[in-house]
Amino acid sequence: MNIPRHLAVIMDGNGRWAERRKRPRIIGHRAGARAVNICIDFCLEHGIEALTLFAFSSENWGRPEDEIGALMKLFMNALDREVDELHRRQVRIRFIGDRERFSDKIRARMTSAETQTRDNSRLTLTIAASYGGRQDIVLATRALAEEVAAGRLQPDQIDEAAVHARMALSDLPTPDLFIRTGGDHRISNFLLWQMAYTELWFTETLWPELDAATLRRALDDYAQRERRFGLTGAQIAAQPDPGTA
Ligand code: FPP
Repeated sequence: MNIPRHLAVIMDGNGRWAERRKRPRIIGHRAGARAVNICIDFCLEHGIEALTLFAFSSENWGRPEDEIGALMKLFMNALDREVDELHRRQVRIRFIGDRERFSDKIRARMTSAETQTRDNSRLTLTIAASYGGRQDIVLATRALAEEVAAGRLQPDQIDEAAVHARMALSDLPTPDLFIRTGGDHRISNFLLWQMAYTELWFTETLWPELDAATLRRALDDYAQRERRFGLTGAQIAAQPDPGTA
């Protein structure tokens, strides 16, 4: 079976899961943290090399203050609780996004998790936190402009590879499969550049209800798809590996 090397996930539906139970939204986020473990276990069991989770978007800072405060506490506790075990299981943890907006304490925790696990290679787990796809493109553009201004780069050297090299996740294969739970069919400013040829899969399942059977359905669907990367089916059959950028 054709297994994705890199899985990207929008974990949506925590709030609705809690509201349906007449519980505060943070209870949904707590249940969502358990689903994160299910997703990581699944990737480890299936030999998926990279998992990128959208934990907090740059737009999520606009949520009510108490929800943000509770989410920050949850991130902190999850890091405290899970990092040693993830390290034992050879998971490399990384964060993408604007970490300047987090407290010193959370930033220090992020850095120590990255340092502790940096030599692991079984699964690269990237947590997108205060991340936005457009901002990622802006930062890459700014980096290129600075290099041109400093005379280290000529404008005609700017091609797709040059932009890609300055984007988040440039050292990983681009996502093969994107999963969004919670019923909405949107990308919501996630990995806009990186997902140009990613297969998209959506489910009504709310994130806290995620189980291995749902993930297996996504993988089964993915395995049926023909990825053409703009070419014809016949070309793909003759040249099976054109889209690994
Ligand atoms: C979207 O659901 C979810 C979030 C904004 C937060 C995601 C956080 C977790 C899954 C908790 C733990 C994560 C880590 C990495 C430890 P929503 O609140 O938008 O749900 P709704 O659309 O039903 O309101």
